[in-house]
Amino acid sequence: MGKEAAAIIFLFLSFYSLEIFVAAAATSPLNSSTDEHSLLAIKSHIITYDPNNILASNWSLGTDFCTWIGVTCSRKHLRVTWLDLSNMGLQGTIAKEIGNLSFLRMLVLANNKLSGTIPSSVGDLRKLELLDLSSNRLSGGVPLSLGQLSNLKYLYLSFSSLDGTVFEDHFAKLEKLSWLSLNSIKFKVKLDWVPPFQLEQLALISCDIGGQFPQWVRTQKELMILTMENCSISDTLSNFLNNFQNLTALYLPNNHIQGPLPKNISQMLPFLESFILDQNRINESLPDSLCEMKSLEFMDFSRNHLSGNLPGCLGNLHNLISMKLSFNEISGGVPNSIDGASSLQWLLLNNNSLTGKLPFSMKNCTKLIVLDIGDNMIAGDLPKWIGNYMLDLRVLILRNNNFSGLIPFEVCQLPKLQILDIANNNLTGGIPDCVGNLSSMVVNPESHDDPFYYDLDGPLETFTEVLKGQEREYSYKISRYVVNLDVSNNNLVGKIPWELTRLSGLIGLNLSHNHLVGKIPERIGDMKSMESLDLSNNNLSGTIPSGLSDLSSISHLNLSHNNLSGQIPIGRQLQTLENPSIYEGNPQLCGAPLPKKCEEASMVPSITNNHVAANEGDDIIDDKVLFSGVIICGFATGFWGVIGVLFFNKRWREAYFEFAEEKISRLFGG
Ligand SMILES: *[C@@H]1O[C@H](CO)[C@@H](O)[C@H](O)[C@H]1NC(C)=O
Ligand SMILES: *[C@@H]1O[C@H](CO)[C@@H](O)[C@H](O)[C@H]1NC(C)=O
Ligand SMILES: *[C@@H]1O[C@H](CO)[C@@H](O)[C@H](O)[C@H]1NC(C)=O
Ligand SMILES: *[C@@H]1O[C@H](CO)[C@@H](O)[C@H](O)[C@H]1NC(C)=O
Ligand SMILES: *[C@@H]1O[C@H](CO)[C@@H](O)[C@H](O)[C@H]1NC(C)=O
Ligand SMILES: *[C@@H]1O[C@H](CO)[C@@H](O)[C@H](O)[C@H]1NC(C)=O
Ligand SMILES: *[C@@H]1O[C@H](CO)[C@@H](O)[C@H](O)[C@H]1NC(C)=O
Ligand SMILES: *[C@@H]1O[C@H](CO)[C@@H](O)[C@H](O)[C@H]1NC(C)=O
Ligand SMILES: *[C@@H]1O[C@H](CO)[C@@H](O)[C@H](O)[C@H]1NC(C)=O
Ligand SMILES: *[C@@H]1O[C@H](CO)[C@@H](O)[C@H](O)[C@H]1NC(C)=O
Ligand SMILES: *[C@@H]1O[C@H](CO)[C@@H](O)[C@H](O)[C@H]1NC(C)=O
Ligand SMILES: *[C@@H]1O[C@H](CO)[C@@H](O)[C@H](O)[C@H]1NC(C)=O
Repeated sequence: MGKEAAAIIFLFLSFYSLEIFVAAAATSPLNSSTDEHSLLAIKSHIITYDPNNILASNWSLGTDFCTWIGVTCSRKHLRVTWLDLSNMGLQGTIAKEIGNLSFLRMLVLANNKLSGTIPSSVGDLRKLELLDLSSNRLSGGVPLSLGQLSNLKYLYLSFSSLDGTVFEDHFAKLEKLSWLSLNSIKFKVKLDWVPPFQLEQLALISCDIGGQFPQWVRTQKELMILTMENCSISDTLSNFLNNFQNLTALYLPNNHIQGPLPKNISQMLPFLESFILDQNRINESLPDSLCEMKSLEFMDFSRNHLSGNLPGCLGNLHNLISMKLSFNEISGGVPNSIDGASSLQWLLLNNNSLTGKLPFSMKNCTKLIVLDIGDNMIAGDLPKWIGNYMLDLRVLILRNNNFSGLIPFEVCQLPKLQILDIANNNLTGGIPDCVGNLSSMVVNPESHDDPFYYDLDGPLETFTEVLKGQEREYSYKISRYVVNLDVSNNNLVGKIPWELTRLSGLIGLNLSHNHLVGKIPERIGDMKSMESLDLSNNNLSGTIPSGLSDLSSISHLNLSHNNLSGQIPIGRQLQTLENPSIYEGNPQLCGAPLPKKCEEASMVPSITNNHVAANEGDDIIDDKVLFSGVIICGFATGFWGVIGVLFFNKRWREAYFEFAEEKISRLFGG
């Protein structure tokens, strides 16, 4: 039976059959009218801000509260068993009367803006099995009374702004607890504490454990998903990974974990699917046994101190979707056997010391979406087969290597390519005319109806992209918004093909430090999305096309060190770029912002007032705003704050379903 179907049946059954379980409590002094009273109290505390007016209009006195949105009642006793007000944008506090909903089994207030403390009366909800207050703006600590919830299986309090410390007593009776998620909460428990529960999933984020891997976590031998992010763990992996045979996902990013990956890692974690260890101090080379982890789908060891060669057996990882080894000290070549890893969608090897040529066998990795091999010492021709086989590529970064030869026209055949960065190599020849065929660089990303959404439920996707002369790290689902072409610092010759100006979706274009000649294409002004344009250090000549002033989003421009002549065009956006160094090294240029005045003869027709008027009121697009708002999924708020929430929400959806299935088997079977 499908999980969703099971859940629906569960809900259906809950109307008819759950009475069996709740009848015993019928003697409670609380009754359905106290439930109504509690709900109205909850409403009156939450109503501070209810953007969709849901509670205000729907939860109205005199109507049956069991029909209210978010409320599910048991049929026989008409008592509230499930309250789900998640994702409603609600503000306000949680009323202490919530503790009177004595039949409540699931309480879900996640993804709102609720403030105040968790009322300790929540500890009175003795039937509670699921408590999800994640992603709110609560304050204070975890109330001690939660330790009395002896039926609780799922406790999810992360991103709720809680802080403080928890002790053994917070978990006193939580024998059934199976999923626990906390952040910014410290554990002050005895070293030899053995919790009453056996967790399947544990997520501790920014928990400041410091040093050794906690002993009590080692007792959780049934764990399937273990997350300990930013917890200052400085242990070695071989010291603690032996305990968790059943893990399918291990997320330990941003700690100080040291030492090598254990040689028998595949025996330690035989079922692992996600192995996330970025930002630690793992050293030495990747062990061959890594290749025996046949279930592995996501692997992120970036920003560690890995060295040595890539294991030749990597191709055994047939299910691997994402391999990130960026920012390590790995040397040697990309192994020929890479063709076996044909499920790869993300391959990030940037900033290592890789040498040799990219193996021809790599063409079998036809599912690649992101290929970043930048900042290595790879030599040889730019592979033609990339253009023939990797038709899903969105991002191709080969910058800072030792590629030589011509830019193959096959590259133009990548229909989805939106970032092409081959800067800082030893490429020769011209920019191919076919560059205008890169259709994903043509469209205005905003108007495109096929945006590229990477699976948000996957682990952190990070890569480094250089734009505007500044290196920044973007951690995001790639949106169509990043459209960039960088061929700077090569030995390219010839003219800038006019076809290039068809790439109207480009946000960044860098052709600098080459030997390009001829004029700047007249239609440069068609590239309306352009924010950063660098043509400096070439041998370009002629006048600057007046269309340049049509680039109303431009915030970074460099035309210096060419042979340009005549008057600098005037336009609103260009006038904000008043640093004369943009134009320096072009002795025949004149007009503002250069001190040199133009003689009548060299005047070019200036821009119509019309144009200036049309842009009146436009604000200069602050690239920071653009990038943080649209492209980066808010790195500042942290991975877990954005992707993490979604990730866990998916897990939680599954939890609900699992919960439902279990109920059904209880009803029918056990
Ligand atoms: C519920 O209990 C209260 C007292 O706690 C009583 O006044 C009320 O009549 C009861 N209502 C129902 C529907 O049983
Ligand atoms: C509240 O919403 C539910 C579901 O949309 C609906 O069935 C019910 O009639 C509504 N109640 C009121 C009082 O609007
Ligand atoms: C409901 O809870 C409040 C506060 O927790 C309490 O004062 C009140 O007596 C309770 N109501 C009933 C009917 O028990
Ligand atoms: C890591 O955790 C510490 C507290 O232990 C916190 O101050 C810091 O902001 C966290 N860093 C990140 C990136 O979440
Ligand atoms: C691992 O999972 C299997 C099957 O679910 C179970 O039988 C076994 O006890 C688990 N092992 C541990 C160490 O929890
Ligand atoms: C790897 O790190 C461990 C622990 O920091 C250290 O003892 C060991 O010498 C390192 N190995 C190498 C090859 O540097
Ligand atoms: C892995 O190797 C270590 C020692 O190298 C050993 O203690 C441990 O039992 C091994 N684990 C498994 C699962 O084989
Ligand atoms: C190439 O990829 C296909 C699947 O795309 C796979 O079946 C095949 O085994 C791979 N070839 C090699 C040599 O691994
Ligand atoms: C590679 O990363 C190291 C830090 O890990 C940094 O010092 C170095 O500058 C980077 N190299 C390049 C070319 O970005
Ligand atoms: C780059 O490759 C050329 C041959 O194409 C070679 O002569 C040169 O030494 C290489 N440079 C580096 C830094 O590896
Ligand atoms: C570029 O290529 C030329 C000729 O192949 C070679 O002499 C030169 O060393 C290369 N430059 C770099 C930086 O590798
Ligand atoms: C570019 O596109 C045009 C028209 O779609 C086509 O005729 C041409 O062959 C393409 N060029 C390349 C190199 O793919």
